[in-house]
Amino acid sequence: MSNHYLSIEKSGPLHGSVALRGAKNAVLAIMASLILTKGTSKITNVPYSSDVIQMIDLLRDLGAHIDFDLLSHTLLIDTTYLANHKVQPEIMGKMRASILVTGPLLARFGCADVALPGGCVIGARPIDFHIKSFKELGVLLEREGPFLKAYLPKGTPKAVDRRIVFEYPSVGATENILMFAATLPGKTTMVNAALEPEVFDLISVLNTMGADISYGSGAILHVKGVGSLRSIEHEAMPDRLEAGALLLAAAMTGGDISISNAQPEYMDLFLEKLKHMGHAIIIKKEVPGIYFKATNQPQAVSFKTGPYPSFPTDLQAPMMAAQCIANGISVIEETVFENRLMHVKELQKMGAQIDVEGRKALIRGVDELYGAEVIASDIRASCALVLAGLVANGSTKVIGVHHWQRAYERLEDRISVLGGRIKLHVDSSMRSRSEMGFYS
Ligand code: UD1
Repeated sequence: MSNHYLSIEKSGPLHGSVALRGAKNAVLAIMASLILTKGTSKITNVPYSSDVIQMIDLLRDLGAHIDFDLLSHTLLIDTTYLANHKVQPEIMGKMRASILVTGPLLARFGCADVALPGGCVIGARPIDFHIKSFKELGVLLEREGPFLKAYLPKGTPKAVDRRIVFEYPSVGATENILMFAATLPGKTTMVNAALEPEVFDLISVLNTMGADISYGSGAILHVKGVGSLRSIEHEAMPDRLEAGALLLAAAMTGGDISISNAQPEYMDLFLEKLKHMGHAIIIKKEVPGIYFKATNQPQAVSFKTGPYPSFPTDLQAPMMAAQCIANGISVIEETVFENRLMHVKELQKMGAQIDVEGRKALIRGVDELYGAEVIASDIRASCALVLAGLVANGSTKVIGVHHWQRAYERLEDRISVLGGRIKLHVDSSMRSRSEMGFYS
């Protein structure tokens, strides 16, 4: 764990205009999909977050040439000379999204050696849906030491119709299978697929590459395998989870902000809940983005998380922070990950009144929170603690801040420009950008 930490002081109402970075969850899958192509692809609106850096390391290890211009948030990735289908366990262990290279590696090389992925410890996070679906598509899998070796039997796969039925709409499994099926001869129908906006950002990239993927009625995706795919240019979608964090920061401090590139059409249920709390959300057809004005008498709301378009599990912890100071009682149920309430005990250290039973949390709003030293246990928990820190009396110190840096590119700076009293303290022993091979 690094020695970085965030210090936060009680802040006045946030005010001003802010823009979102690209969605790291979309970017990671898109980066993995470039394995399917030869040539140089350009992705813009890429956040400088540590998960993106890990994916750069992973692709470089496979043989990709990569330039990351931090000023323009542009990634140039040349995948012409990929020579390796083996991902080292130490790279796999750093983030969950590393499993997403399995499908594209199989498509390109007919084999992929991967290890179990790492990532936030928010549940068991098995990869059984990925494995079962690959097997159903004819992939053979074996364990060998730390590696899971996946390979296709000799000969060209038959051009037949295949139907994959997901027991649960897993985002990662949907993306992995989409990337594998894109060049698999025949037709693959994916039933109960994840329909998160980030999945559709990936689909738009794959179709630009030359894939033939369409969305049928219900949660069904149709993939017609094509011969080969070409390099692309793509602007990553803005991060709806970062938008959620900023709106909640304004809501909790009683502020008013506008987010110039937020996409409200992907945030319906979350925005509904903010409205039920009493906050004003103004969306104009002719002007992009969201304008937000907080009420100073926020009412508690209840919700349960679920696959899109339900309430996003990634906004559960941040929204819980807002419930801690709302009027009344909120009941929050986490249905996606079985161990995603670890921020509760840290919020309790700050004076929050929360009782947990199984996957449900009951929150009684309090008048005040208090600054404390708290530990972020995962990405979205770090966000919840930052939000609580903005309204807590006194000073809050958030440690475990590497989780914050995995997803958010200097979000603390943008909160600070809006009037938040927050500062990142960085361990000077961190690798410099030039050491990591980035310019600007
Ligand atoms: C992605 C997101 C993550 C978000 C999550 C749910 C990325 C990089 N990460 O994670 O931010 O919180 O979607 O919206 O895009 N499951 C299984 N077996 C599997 C796969 C999943 O049981 O093979 C379970 C998981 O343990 C979890 C649920 O299904 O309980 C949802 O997981 P999934 O949608 O796969 O999440 P990720 O793709 O890991």
